[in-house]
Amino acid sequence: MVNKITVVGAGNVGATTAQRLAEKELARTVVMVDVADGIPQGKGLDQWESAPIEGFDSRIVGTNGYEETAGSDIVVITAGIARKPGMSRDDLLNTNAGIVKQVSEQIKKTSPNAILIIVSNPLDVMSYVAKEVTGFPRERVLGMAGVLDTARYRSFLAEALDVSVRDIQAMVLGGHGDTMVPLISYTTVSGIPVTQLIDKAKLDAIVDRTRNGGAEIVKFLKTGSAYYAPSSAAVQMCEAIVLDQKRILPCAAWLEGEYGMKDLFLGVPCKLGRNGLEQILEVTLTDAETAELAKSAEAVREPMRAVKL
Ligand SMILES: NC(=O)c1ccc[n+]([C@@H]2O[C@H](COP(=O)([O-])OP(=O)(O)OC[C@H]3O[C@@H](n4cnc5c(N)ncnc54)[C@H](O)[C@@H]3O)[C@@H](O)[C@H]2O)c1
Repeated sequence: MVNKITVVGAGNVGATTAQRLAEKELARTVVMVDVADGIPQGKGLDQWESAPIEGFDSRIVGTNGYEETAGSDIVVITAGIARKPGMSRDDLLNTNAGIVKQVSEQIKKTSPNAILIIVSNPLDVMSYVAKEVTGFPRERVLGMAGVLDTARYRSFLAEALDVSVRDIQAMVLGGHGDTMVPLISYTTVSGIPVTQLIDKAKLDAIVDRTRNGGAEIVKFLKTGSAYYAPSSAAVQMCEAIVLDQKRILPCAAWLEGEYGMKDLFLGVPCKLGRNGLEQILEVTLTDAETAELAKSAEAVREPMRAVKL
């Protein structure tokens, strides 16, 4: 385990993330910070009181300030407002940019060596805000989206094929929005190309459902957005870093020429280890996938130009 992981935002995603981090004992101390008076303290204490039953030794601490977060190894940023029905992720742009900016300024001062995992939406732009404000190198600023989008894609495929979710290998790249790019050419079931096992119409429907996976949950919940699978995804990224697993996961990373693009965050295959982003893997894409990735990048650049830092 590492010494300290901070989760900023003690709402649905943040609190669930803190609980999962502690249950997996990924840090000696998990600190939860939120502007809401009493919420992080109350949730943190409640979670910690589950430790004797669940059997974990991580301590969870809730606070409204940044003193307790000092020297964090990893900071997961979930602060912001979530989507309401009919709202796009980009509607959240300037409200959440202001929040992520303020949080990043604090983290830069108190945890200058931390690895940041951004969750707040619109994801790719908020990752850019955090990188710009902290000035941290790209190895230490990652966005969580691809792991979640891929988990949704794998779940839907496993259901359609009636096989274990564990046996679906897949990757969803691109921006975290309707333009995300599930890589069909790299989707396999224990190594068998998925196209041998499912017809095109069914696969297209699954890709479409994946692209709208977030909205599907928002429609059910009405007052908030998904948080169980999103928190699992953020924790998987933390785990890969803490345990130096060198896992290859789709994450939003700052591109410096990879895939022929630069100066934006986009979902690409990343190797995660103790140093954060250790490598971006450039895989061969079909012409259609290359075109879709370029379109997705444009959908990220547009709000990037509009955001006020
Ligand atoms: N990247 C993804 O795949 C993904 C998935 C799910 C949710 N999200 C995003 O994560 C964010 C959080 O979602 P949620 O469901 O937990 O929302 P939520 O409303 O339950 O929680 C957000 C929390 O942030 C807090 N907050 C607001 N301003 C803050 C500040 N300046 N400092 C600290 N805390 C502050 C709020 O008080 C609230 O408790 C949203 O932007 C949502 O869109 C992203």
